[in-house]
Amino acid sequence: MSDTASEPRRILLIVSGGIAAYKVLETIRHLRRRGVAVRCVLTAGGAQFVTPLSLHALSEDKVYQDLFSLTDESEMGHIELSRQADLVVVAPASADILAKMTAGLCDDLATTLLLATDKPVLVAPAMNVRMWEHAATQENLATLIRRGISVIGPEEGPMACGEYGYGRLVEPDRLAAAILRRLGHDTDGTDTKQSVLAGRSALVTSGPTHEPIDPVRYIANRSSGRQGHAIAEALAALGARVTLVSGPTRLPDPAGVTTVHIESAEEMLSACRSALPVDVAVCAAAVADWKVAARTGEKIKKEEGAAPPTLALAENPDILKTLGQPGPGRPQLVVGFAAETGDVVARGTAKRARKGCDWILGNDVSEGTGTFGGAENSVHFITEAGAEAWPTGSKRAVADELARRIAAHLGAAGERGAAE
Ligand code: C5P
Repeated sequence: MSDTASEPRRILLIVSGGIAAYKVLETIRHLRRRGVAVRCVLTAGGAQFVTPLSLHALSEDKVYQDLFSLTDESEMGHIELSRQADLVVVAPASADILAKMTAGLCDDLATTLLLATDKPVLVAPAMNVRMWEHAATQENLATLIRRGISVIGPEEGPMACGEYGYGRLVEPDRLAAAILRRLGHDTDGTDTKQSVLAGRSALVTSGPTHEPIDPVRYIANRSSGRQGHAIAEALAALGARVTLVSGPTRLPDPAGVTTVHIESAEEMLSACRSALPVDVAVCAAAVADWKVAARTGEKIKKEEGAAPPTLALAENPDILKTLGQPGPGRPQLVVGFAAETGDVVARGTAKRARKGCDWILGNDVSEGTGTFGGAENSVHFITEAGAEAWPTGSKRAVADELARRIAAHLGAAGERGAAE
């Protein structure tokens, strides 16, 4: 897809304080070459590193600095300024501005615009490695991502302060490419508007398993597969290459997804193994905990007057636990579900540790919730950082939210892994 007049092409670029601010000058040049209109806002900290004149010369537009500027307000109010662009970019985003964004503080023009805007926001953090690694910064970032803010970088490398680590602002070409992608531009020959997971691979398990007793009978459960299928669809919609390993369901195979049909847990595990390596694995299947220990090839006969047969059960392989095992083939991100009837968060947290997965989506399947087989789901999103209750929504809405989180996680991990 090439640029067209219908593509949104206007950004508000907030330049906060940091030695890396010089990189935004080159970024503006990249963007201007692609016809993107860039309107700059310079914080007091940012002005210590780049001048309004440089920003003005490269953006060919007025540079805004003051919240209480009579001239600026009479030309254009700050609310209007915050909403005129198609995308708001903060680069470099200092630890200070990230903290203010998280807290909703607005004591200058930049933070006021960030609180007032109704447009998508992309932040490109840059700071000292210790400041970046500090729990406060990491928690602030997690909150911002949860609120829908996109993050690019920082990168690893030597810092201006002499230390080494993560904290460098991404290079101008990568920052410009990320901005163009979010504006819906073609940056590498493909339509990347919906492709935040392009180049990534995902494995999703879904549905129940059927554990054979004999050639005609089996043990099953009530899973409909709706949540797992919706997750496969949502990941594919973001551009991921998805393999869906599904037990027997009534659902059609999702479009744009490779679906592998299996029946038993053993078959599911073997199909999952064949799909590796992947970047992310989401185990949403309701895998039977037990299989029949000695499955017969013959139909078990009901003999007149004989006692009913006794079924000896054996434990099934735990697919989630297997995929979560540390090792070179482990997916970068392993996600499981915990269908519980008691304290969902406590049980889900314990399950996360027991299964060795990164995230657990805990849901209440008590009688009356309608979760099993129903269209809606209420989820507690459990990670290393704690538990977060998501509002009740359709299984597709839950899937979209999860896909977005996965994209944010893999995106951030990808940037962090990219040393110069
Ligand atoms: O242990 P429990 O069945 O409650 O764990 C639920 C999670 O583990 C789900 O993500 C499910 O897909 C996964 N699981 C699995 N293999 C099993 C049992 C559960 O992958 N044998």
